[in-house]
Amino acid sequence: MKVHICLGTRAHRESCIRALHDSALWDTYFSDLPMIDDMFDRGFDAKEIHVAVNDRGECIGYIWVARGGCFAHFPYLRSFAVEKGCRNQGIGAGLLRYFEEVSSSNRFFLLVSELNETAQRFYERHGYTPVGKVPNLFKNGISEIILTKHVQPAG
Ligand SMILES: CC(C)(COP(=O)(O)OP(=O)(O)OC[C@H]1O[C@@H](n2cnc3c(N)ncnc32)[C@H](O)[C@@H]1OP(=O)(O)O)[C@@H](O)C(=O)NCCC(=O)NCCS
Repeated sequence: MKVHICLGTRAHRESCIRALHDSALWDTYFSDLPMIDDMFDRGFDAKEIHVAVNDRGECIGYIWVARGGCFAHFPYLRSFAVEKGCRNQGIGAGLLRYFEEVSSSNRFFLLVSELNETAQRFYERHGYTPVGKVPNLFKNGISEIILTKHVQPAG
């Protein structure tokens, strides 16, 4: 499938939220989260959400990049999803690569739920390593794993 990645706008809100459905992420954190529309709108307005669009012009995934979002210095991948029917075709890999390119950094951070084994495996394959765990961060009884990737300068 041919996709291109571009800056998202409020017009992409519904499709981004739809991409989150059918995932451990949605079931655990978002399904009962009020004001999810407002949360996404703030991300679009801050120009932090980039979307993957297929050749029919449909938004099939997004990546939410907070520049300086970690320790006020390093890029933080805040949220990321691909629509269920489009997963396992390399679109997530393309979005993650895009995150690393637009971030202009050699150090990246993100959090992944200890319950989200699919995402943990995905990030590990892309060079992210666990450096810590925060218990009860977003939900009682669930830990978030802190992942980081450090790209060594060439040469
Ligand atoms: C995590 C997520 C974004 C990955 O997106 P994706 O588009 O499925 O990612 P990719 O297709 O690049 O890679 C997924 C798998 O498909 C495989 N794959 C990639 N291209 C493929 C192809 N052409 N044919 C077959 N398999 C392929 C990859 O090897 C990869 O396997 P791995 O995860 O074991 O490494 C997606 O699973 C998702 O939206 N999950 C729900 C939300 C979520 O958990 N987000 C992360 C929160 S921290």
